[in-house]
Amino acid sequence: MPTKVEKDSVTGRETTGHEWDGLKELNTPLPKWWLYVFYACIAFGLVWVVIYPAFPVSGATGLSGWTARGAIGPELEAERAKQEPMLARMRAATPAEIAADPALRSYALAGGRIAFANNCAACHGSGGQGAVGGFPSLADDDWLYGGGFEAIHGTIAHGVRNGVDADARGIAMPRFLADGLLTAAQVGDVTEHVLGLTGRATDPAAAERGAAVFAENCVSCHGEKGEGNRDMGAPRLNDQVWLYGGDKANILRSVGYARAGVMPNWSTRLDPAIVNMLTVYVHALGGGE
Ligand code: HEC
Ligand code: HEC
Repeated sequence: MPTKVEKDSVTGRETTGHEWDGLKELNTPLPKWWLYVFYACIAFGLVWVVIYPAFPVSGATGLSGWTARGAIGPELEAERAKQEPMLARMRAATPAEIAADPALRSYALAGGRIAFANNCAACHGSGGQGAVGGFPSLADDDWLYGGGFEAIHGTIAHGVRNGVDADARGIAMPRFLADGLLTAAQVGDVTEHVLGLTGRATDPAAAERGAAVFAENCVSCHGEKGEGNRDMGAPRLNDQVWLYGGDKANILRSVGYARAGVMPNWSTRLDPAIVNMLTVYVHALGGGE
């Protein structure tokens, strides 16, 4: 800091004493009003930090004990209480009964749509159209486990191959190549046969040999003609609907290494009323039986 206050000769104002290449910096302090507002903001901030939650940890960290979650709690509670009579009816009725009652049905469809968007759309698509890689469409009439109310309800409640629900659906298909149950040549042959089920075989001799392999290893689950089996969740192989892709490479992989689609069980995650509403919603997507 310069000891002697220096005036700029042109403007007559004080300088800070800093000089660069002959240019001097004028001393222009912040306006007082601005400074006081600034100090007031700092004081306000300090008080806020003491009273309200201000640190990135959960729960109330301020002296007042206020939290945003706590503040909307009563509102949520009131909203829930408003829904409760209807939810109780959803719990008490079966999905088939809900679907048969126009008032219950429209409530279930509206609620089911929201619950579906929140819990199911990530895997099954926003309209239940499914996704490549083993996530079946729920909007068509091609069902792995059945499209009646009870079947859909069972699948949603218990899930598929999740290892936590004893009633989960889905058995395991053997890994024919990985576990040495068939040779690579046999897997190639049976793949030709599977392609032949939808008229796409390119090597008749291989498809012929594959038919024998299929009869011995596959019909117990997939059926004589590849029509599938809902008790096991073995998909139909003689249609155009594929969980994992119906081209040669994907079928080879399915047969050689097997697939095992997994779905969580929802009976422990969602209110039984919501599971019922989801059942009615999925049933109404297009393929309900
Ligand atoms: C983590 C992904 C995932 C989520 C989330 C999920 N599912 Fe699934 N779901 C699957 C898979 C994978 C299958 C097929 C299982 C198989 O290969 O056998 C399936 C199968 C189904 C089926 C049987 C379809 C048929 O053809 O029989 C229904 C019904 C179903 N899901 C409904 C739901 C509903 C309703 C929800 C939301 C509450 C949901 N899923 C959430 C992955 C998921
Ligand atoms: C123990 C029962 C079982 C046997 C035996 C079995 N499969 Fe499967 N297979 C399944 C199941 C269950 C699935 C569905 C896996 C899933 O959903 O993730 C499946 C899936 C498939 C798929 C995939 C279908 C799709 O839509 O993408 C093909 C292809 C297939 N099997 C072919 C065969 C062939 C060929 C054989 C005989 C060499 C065979 N399977 C034997 C149960 C079986």
